Amino acid sequence: MKFLLVAGARPNFMKIAPVLEAFRPYRNAHEVRLVHTGQHYDARMSDDFFHELGIPEPDVNLGVGSASHAQQTARVMVEFEQVCLRDTPDWVVVVGDVNSTLACALTAKKLGIRVAHVEAGLRSRDMSMPEEINRICTDAIADLLFTTDRLAGENLLREGVSPEKIKFVGNTMIDTLLRHIGRARDLPLPEGLASRRYAALTLHRPANVDCERTLAGIMEAIRGIANRIPIVFPVHPRTAGKLNGSARHPNLRVVEPMSYFAFLGMVAHSRMVLTDSGGIQEETTVLGIPCITLRENTERPITCQMGTNTLVGRDPARIRAAAAAVLETPPPSPRRPELWDGRAANRIVELLLQ
Ligand code: UD1
Repeated sequence: MKFLLVAGARPNFMKIAPVLEAFRPYRNAHEVRLVHTGQHYDARMSDDFFHELGIPEPDVNLGVGSASHAQQTARVMVEFEQVCLRDTPDWVVVVGDVNSTLACALTAKKLGIRVAHVEAGLRSRDMSMPEEINRICTDAIADLLFTTDRLAGENLLREGVSPEKIKFVGNTMIDTLLRHIGRARDLPLPEGLASRRYAALTLHRPANVDCERTLAGIMEAIRGIANRIPIVFPVHPRTAGKLNGSARHPNLRVVEPMSYFAFLGMVAHSRMVLTDSGGIQEETTVLGIPCITLRENTERPITCQMGTNTLVGRDPARIRAAAAAVLETPPPSPRRPELWDGRAANRIVELLLQ
């Protein structure tokens, strides 16, 4: 069989790496090709992840780059259609919820190619999030839906997906974490920081960073927290131009986007994480690091039920109170959700080969 695997943006790379690896023993009998859509393209957002995670050079890079949602999605579709017509794959495998995920799923499906979605069924029920639209549309047309937890399967059943298409396999991003955590933990921490004596911050959701007032409120809370504990803040390119001096504080360390190992090590040694990322809610759950999520909802409720995640939204007083509560409570013990055991990608490949 022929498989085309797709990755486009930073969080996709951690999810696709173990799937490619799990295909390795079968590559004599089956053709497996990797397509990078080029949605993310800076070395710090893309190439560095390929090198660290040992992902082979993509067979094809569509080089679509940044643009509006319609333009970016359309460019991926136009370019990916050519690849599908040339390669005639039996399966297209997409991961996550970025524009590249939806664009490639839609293109493949309309050419009659079967689509598998890794990380299916997550729902925030917030249709103002572009990712929620991508998730719902991708899942509506996928032929095989690989889920990370049982709640995701229930969401899909409620939407009318037939049960035989839904496969609960675990979490490929956690496969990658478990594989590399030892090495990441051993890396030296950024100068002047001591284990458990600092917090980490990431911000990139349009709802948090695109509106000046909202971002100013969040940053006001962050400066308040920085009065109590140093904060490391790797800044996403979307956020970089929008801070307007609001990150100026002697205890707030603004740095460039970090590589996978450096970031994972930094999070693993932190006292807490403040974030609006989806994946980091899962990573902190497995690591047992308190996670304060600066959103009103999450598509990953298992991280609140079983893990270390607390949703606090964007209100500065709530953010500060949540951070104070973490600092006054002993760190929790890590609890790993079912099947987040490092073998999700092996299950996926076995099912695809069936
Ligand atoms: C995208 C995903 C989001 C994911 C995030 C992880 C969608 C709709 N959003 O959001 O789900 O959580 O990636 O990072 O697919 N830019 C660069 N260099 C790059 C890439 C982007 O400078 O390599 C800048 C550009 O100015 C671009 C902006 O960042 O316009 C946003 O990039 P884009 O891929 O559109 O969305 P993200 O916010 O990164």
